[in-house]
Amino acid sequence: MARAAGEFATDIRNGLTKPGQKELPSKYLYDTIGSKLFEVIAELPEYGLTRADERLIRGHAGEIVERIAGDVVLCELGSGSGTKTRWILEALSRRRHTYYFPIEISSAALAVCRRELADIDSVGIVGLEREYLDGLLEVAARRRDGQRILVLFLGSTIGNFSHPADINFLRNVRMILKTGDALLLGTDLEKSVPQLIQAYDDPLGVTAAFNLNLLVRINRELDADFDLDQFRHLARFNSDTGSVEMHLQSLRKQSVTIHAADLQIAFEDGETIWTENSHKYSHDEIARLAEVAGFRCEAQWIDHEWPFTESLFVVK
Ligand code: AVI
Repeated sequence: MARAAGEFATDIRNGLTKPGQKELPSKYLYDTIGSKLFEVIAELPEYGLTRADERLIRGHAGEIVERIAGDVVLCELGSGSGTKTRWILEALSRRRHTYYFPIEISSAALAVCRRELADIDSVGIVGLEREYLDGLLEVAARRRDGQRILVLFLGSTIGNFSHPADINFLRNVRMILKTGDALLLGTDLEKSVPQLIQAYDDPLGVTAAFNLNLLVRINRELDADFDLDQFRHLARFNSDTGSVEMHLQSLRKQSVTIHAADLQIAFEDGETIWTENSHKYSHDEIARLAEVAGFRCEAQWIDHEWPFTESLFVVK
């Protein structure tokens, strides 16, 4: 079995045999179809997160980059489609020639990003096909004396790390950076539970398809026999953690075989597999994130149409 497929099988086996709540890592939601479905989710009227993130960056790119003086190297954790990055890159490259390092495990996503941003003058794009922290280490190793690194971590992807993994991740980012470097962090804010449930269980069923696609992927890539008619998408708000959780719920007592993971797994009627955590932050939590990870929160921009914030964290 290829290494990546082997790792996928191991992660699936570990998640589904965990005592208590069965789990699947949310990173596996993003195969080619899952990534396309997420792009559709971002367009849904019920899901305002991506549009809020874009509005803030488009409206404040100039102010954001003005807060970081000198020669800035831009890098981004997850290259995205390039739409949001464009505003920041244009603002930086008006000042001087700028290098941009998108860090992403998917080579296809890097190619799209490179193509989308190729027309901006005075920009050098160097895609790094790496895990986030490995890529950031490489950017840090390549920086020249006097250069500052600005890391973009947008779209509230941080909210998909369960607490305290979010803090640990930011601490690791901080350890790679130097005093004066900065992190622009996008975080989705608390909002009403009905609004959140609409956003994660949209009437068109796109989010349901995004979630169920994980079972389709396991069937295809790991020779499994999940019956899609016997599982349903479930979005619920966990008030203890302040997060929306996506689950896949078994609609009857059943057994599923995943041949490539050497696994036969039993489900009770109503039992769920937890597939994603999406934390909604309070202002205090964001301030605490900065503090405990070793940053100073230099500035914040808040979208009021869809409560969401961009925070500029500077390394102390
Ligand atoms: C990518 N991430 C920030 C999205 C979120 O809102 O947590 C993923 C998503 N899951 C369901 N809808 C969107």
